[in-house]
Amino acid sequence: MKTINFSKINLSDEPPVREPERQYYFIAKAREYVREQAEKAGHPLTFCVVTFGCQMNARDSEKLAGILEQIGYREEADEGKADFVIYNTCTVRENANQRVYGRLGQLNRVKKKNPHMLIGLCGCMMQEPEVVEKLKKSYRFVDLIFGTHNIYKFAELIATRLESGRMVIDIWKDTDKIVEDLPAERKYSFKSGVNIMFGCNNFCSYCIVPYVRGRERSRNPHDIIREIEELVADGVVEVMLLGQNVNSYGKNLEQPMSFAQLLREIEKIDGLKRIRFMTSHPKDLSDELIEVMGSSEKICRHLHLPIQSGSSRILEKMNRRYTKEHYLELVEKIRSSVPDISLTTDIIVGFPGETEEDFQETLDVVRKVRYDSAFTFIYSKRTGTPAAIMEDQVPESVVKDRFDRLLKEVQSISGEVCSVYTNTIQDVLVETVNDHDAALVTGRMSNNLLVHFPGGEDLIGKIVSVELKECRGFYYIGDMIKK
Ligand code: SAH
Ligand code: SF4
Ligand code: F3S
Repeated sequence: MKTINFSKINLSDEPPVREPERQYYFIAKAREYVREQAEKAGHPLTFCVVTFGCQMNARDSEKLAGILEQIGYREEADEGKADFVIYNTCTVRENANQRVYGRLGQLNRVKKKNPHMLIGLCGCMMQEPEVVEKLKKSYRFVDLIFGTHNIYKFAELIATRLESGRMVIDIWKDTDKIVEDLPAERKYSFKSGVNIMFGCNNFCSYCIVPYVRGRERSRNPHDIIREIEELVADGVVEVMLLGQNVNSYGKNLEQPMSFAQLLREIEKIDGLKRIRFMTSHPKDLSDELIEVMGSSEKICRHLHLPIQSGSSRILEKMNRRYTKEHYLELVEKIRSSVPDISLTTDIIVGFPGETEEDFQETLDVVRKVRYDSAFTFIYSKRTGTPAAIMEDQVPESVVKDRFDRLLKEVQSISGEVCSVYTNTIQDVLVETVNDHDAALVTGRMSNNLLVHFPGGEDLIGKIVSVELKECRGFYYIGDMIKK
């Protein structure tokens, strides 16, 4: 984003109609309010954004933080101390929702002691009408509620709240709009998520995401490239391209373009060292993409390829549009093109109608593919999705038993798979000082595994060579090689 001088914006003018200029106007306006309030309070006002859910939400939270900083708030890590707390919510599984309600109750107690405090709620959960009804009825202390389609309007919504003093609710059902050039405040200086598309059109029968994130929209490739170039100029060496199904990128652009073509363009950006992406849907994973991954210098040796179930019968009921055999063929193709690739996946246990035989098919895939790691989920019924009204919902005790057996299998395999790099030397991007031991730093290899090794803060953001000495389950202990 280019630097904007907000103090030059004339607030006695009408707000512009065009975006992002309209939001710049409201940032300037909200700044005035926040400046006055900070003067009264005698200290700068602070904010805390709490993120639930996936990488998309994490990136959205960076955009919220960017806008709040421009408005004049300072970041505060402790939500109990902040003047403005925002929960960016997730609703992919029921337990994610329950956590939000629980934490809101606690936050209300904090607000009672600090009446000037503001509480905002946004993200996927807010796209569900029942949730907003419940909040309106029983959580009147919330100040601001908005959804996934209008987070770019955050500054305008804050200005409205500060002006009116009332609860502001703005939820859109869907949008075809993508607003570029708004501020974002990155969590890491050296890596960043980059949205390449929004929404999802796949309607897997268990999944609520298409209902809360709307229809698939791809960003223009020039905007993506420009954003990455700006990030690189600002110190970023690794990007994570984000979309619910990156493999269908570009299909609906005025000038259609494949994901593989986009990757080729991004590869050319000077100074960018690593490219990651999430998530790949097996049904759209093309030979062209496999070829690009095989020949690329920058695309990381990691592919997250959610299988969900190993049973073709269940996959059909899930509306995943591939079979077990197709998936296994894909894995073979990828491994022959990129031999050292690390494969990870998502698996759901207990989808309606899942029998022991179906479950055995899932275990069979896990044993055949030998994933580096797998996220395993207990099926959660989401109201409004086709699977929620399917017959034969599997009893809880059966699901729990399958889940435990799956987890055991996954963990014992990944322990074996991860240790194969012992005594090799790998390039590692240093991310943080180690949480438990300040004499160590933690870095990430191309294949997404972590390694801890002696080093200082000055290494953060650098790519260094590390000899992997010892594998401890899912991470390594190593030593940096001085070149
Ligand atoms: N777009 C991605 C996944 C996004 S949701 C993809 O298609 O791969 C992340 C994961 O949550 C999914 O892969 C799935 O395993 C899990 N998930 C989604 N809906 C779920 C539900 N109703 N119950 C349990 N797990 C679910
Ligand atoms: Fe959900 Fe399927 Fe879309 Fe992934 S591809 S977000 S699982 S509907
Ligand atoms: Fe959750 Fe929304 Fe992501 S439902 S998983 S935060 S797209």
